[in-house]
Amino acid sequence: MTIVAFYSKGTSIEVQNTWSKRLKFYYPSLKLVPLLSEEAKFATVALLWKAPLNYLNKMTRIKGLISLGQGVDHILNGNLIPENIPVVRIVDPYMAKSMSHWVLLSILNIIRETYGYFSQENTKIYKPRDEKNFLSLKIGVYGIGAIGSVVAKDLSYMGFNVQGWSRTKKKIKTITCLSGSEGFKALITNSDIHVCLLPLTPSTENIFNKHKFINMKKGSCFINAGRGEHVDENHLLDSCRSGHISNAVLDVYRNEPLPKNHPFWKQDNIRLWPHVAAETNPDTAAKQIANAIKCIDNNIVPPNTVDRTLGY
Ligand code: NDP
Ligand code: OXD
Repeated sequence: MTIVAFYSKGTSIEVQNTWSKRLKFYYPSLKLVPLLSEEAKFATVALLWKAPLNYLNKMTRIKGLISLGQGVDHILNGNLIPENIPVVRIVDPYMAKSMSHWVLLSILNIIRETYGYFSQENTKIYKPRDEKNFLSLKIGVYGIGAIGSVVAKDLSYMGFNVQGWSRTKKKIKTITCLSGSEGFKALITNSDIHVCLLPLTPSTENIFNKHKFINMKKGSCFINAGRGEHVDENHLLDSCRSGHISNAVLDVYRNEPLPKNHPFWKQDNIRLWPHVAAETNPDTAAKQIANAIKCIDNNIVPPNTVDRTLGY
């Protein structure tokens, strides 16, 4: 019997039961127990989303941690996890496609004037609005990994002009691939729509600050589904208030849930989503998680184990 400690912040016991059922289908000998239970101290694996990591201290048999999402910053932040404990992440094509839908939706809402037409509907105004020529727009995708590369390719397939940025140089058909600080500068100054799909690491924290917003074209759009910590929220707010950034669409925040008194709520040209751009789907992710548990049990390095020196 493999005991797996489970914690997913903000979810119900039903969610844990769903995971338990899906995982047992692929690995019948596992038992999912709440991280905060007594039994968790016998766990060899923990499946976590934004967990109180101090609970891991009492788990003396722990051999590996699995993130319930594609990002692992919630586990690695604070450097609490010993290097010899593998940290595994989900890499699910379902999530990449889901993100692709959300980014496309966010872009289309802006360039096809969805919000303007919704308000016209309320006041029965039947009148065309100015529409942007999508051929003249450059979209910059920051982070073209498992998710960003799919988003970039899908946008390009939809007829958009797409440039992507990564740490290492990439070659993707139909996308202009940039890397390094020169590439970043080019993306910041050339793009009309900026899409952040980076992981949060010490080198990407606060990457979008006042200096970067100033260097963006006037009227740029900024879309963030990476992490809230990628952005200096006050600087973004100032840029949106001045109209230098014409629209922002955000799915992630420094504090989640976004506090009720946060000034973003009052800013009309900032659209807010509650961290749902690409949710983890137990139906599509259970097989790889069950395999990771099996690997950890058998002292095999699981696929999608995070490189601890890179932090993603
Ligand atoms: P990957 O690790 O597959 O891709 C990360 C990309 O970012 C890679 O292209 C990588 O470059 C690039 N990158 C990382 N660090 C740097 C850097 N310092 N400079 C330049 N490029 C860098 O991650 P995923 O695509 O799976 O996920 C990305 C993030 O999306 C997650 O970490 C998470 O924060 C967020 N996310 C948000 C969700 C939501 O619902 N809002 C859902 C899922 C994920 P290289 O290819 O060279 O390594
Ligand atoms: C993830 C997320 O990292 O949902 O998977 O943010």
